[in-house]
Amino acid sequence: MAAMTERKRFQILVCDGPSCGITHESETLVEHIEGRLDKEAALQGRAECAALTCFGRCDEGPNLMIRELAPGEDGSTEPDFDLLYGVRGLYLGVDQAKVDRVLDSHVAKDEAVEAWVESYE
Ligand code: FES
Repeated sequence: MAAMTERKRFQILVCDGPSCGITHESETLVEHIEGRLDKEAALQGRAECAALTCFGRCDEGPNLMIRELAPGEDGSTEPDFDLLYGVRGLYLGVDQAKVDRVLDSHVAKDEAVEAWVESYE
């Protein structure tokens, strides 16, 4: 019998520092993301969402990052920044429509949206 391949799981990080949190209302994006993760079969069990203090790109916010979780890793808390450097999963200046496309592609299908994605430096 072939071994089952474990599905990738992702962490979705949304910055909530004063700039993106207050000025750009990133909390409404978090509520939207969590609602979709709870309700949609293609996304259920696929990702956890957590707040991140700041990506250092506030002028371009609100910003979001998708990173793959290690097996058993908790995706509900802010990770050590060392885990983020070099990860190609940063999306800048997101709105709800952009978030939806990122969820449908990067999270549901493991296909980054190449036109928008950057590496975190
Ligand atoms: S709070 Fe979003 S990049 Fe700084």
